Amino acid sequence: MSVRAVITGTGRNLPPRVVTNADLEKLVNTSDEWIRERSGIVERRWVETGTGSSDLAVEAARQAIDAAGIRKDDIDFIVAATLSPDYYFPGIGVLVQSELGLPNIGALDVRNQCSGFIYALSVADQYIRAGTYKKILVVAAEVQSTNLDFTDQGRDMAVLFGDGGGAVVVEAHDSADGRGILSTHLFCDGRFASELWMEHPSPKYNPTFSMEMITERKTFPRMDGRRVFINAVERMPEAVLAALAHNGLETKDLSLVIPHQANDRISLMVMKKLQLPEERIVRNIQRYGNTTAASIPIALDEVVREGRLKNGDLLALTAFGSGFTWASALIRW
Ligand code: ACO
Repeated sequence: MSVRAVITGTGRNLPPRVVTNADLEKLVNTSDEWIRERSGIVERRWVETGTGSSDLAVEAARQAIDAAGIRKDDIDFIVAATLSPDYYFPGIGVLVQSELGLPNIGALDVRNQCSGFIYALSVADQYIRAGTYKKILVVAAEVQSTNLDFTDQGRDMAVLFGDGGGAVVVEAHDSADGRGILSTHLFCDGRFASELWMEHPSPKYNPTFSMEMITERKTFPRMDGRRVFINAVERMPEAVLAALAHNGLETKDLSLVIPHQANDRISLMVMKKLQLPEERIVRNIQRYGNTTAASIPIALDEVVREGRLKNGDLLALTAFGSGFTWASALIRW
């Protein structure tokens, strides 16, 4: 009997500090109306200084481990996705391992930005299919509020991003009941790297970190919003259709789709292109903003705890982001 990777537990961790669009109006030359119309976002969460993405990941991981009904010592590998690690190095995987008090298991950091969770899940899936590990903790967390450009130059991004963390436990199960991750599809087009990026600090230059980088405001994230939008609305549905075709399934078979919560207008376009009714697409960006790699596991935890997924349901995850990278995962729940 072949082995499948099954998500057996989920968790999420949103910092308690709520930042509304009205709060942002005091910091940025923007308006509640502009933010709602262009992105659907009403509020987001920001950490207090001193909280890193590893801290957000740890609490989400504890919840996922509890939900899976396993002991933390049963975890035999960690995959961690973030674009905002606590430190330049090491990554957050080792910090999560240490904070959870896990034995000397391996921890791998994934750097695929908004697509990071699906890339991380694909790694877990492959290790489980290969028989290398049996119980893998996948975490994704971001702290983005501490490096936003509140001038007019950066206001397009400053209003979109939020902080948060999510986690899942992925376990090896025999495939007899058909449950588990059916496939993951990963894509990228590095020609667009500079369309959505944070250019500095950069070891490519000497010194890595200079006053010029700061005065030229190159240490903040930047994007060409329109180009991101145009590509996101094509690539996410394409990735879902590739997954369905690979498994001999159709859009009508989908019970639920969780798109990366980049922007509500993007999610609505994905819904339209896949010809899905509104109740089959998960949208929570209104409350959390864009939490990059964490957005999918946060949304997944919400739908699981709300009872919106039943055994046998077909779930698609899809993401698009910096790189450009994009991806999908198809899961029989
Ligand atoms: N508040 C008020 N005005 C703003 C703001 C703001 N926060 N940000 C930009 N503007 C202004 C612009 O300066 C521009 O002014 P101008 O016409 O005087 O030049 C005006 O609003 C309109 O700007 P547009 O770029 O035309 O606005 P658009 O309708 O394209 O919306 C947006 C901008 C929301 C960024 C859109 O391009 C978008 O959704 N892009 C997708 C990007 C995205 O979701 N990124 C998330 C990160 S990546 C990811 O997760 C996939």
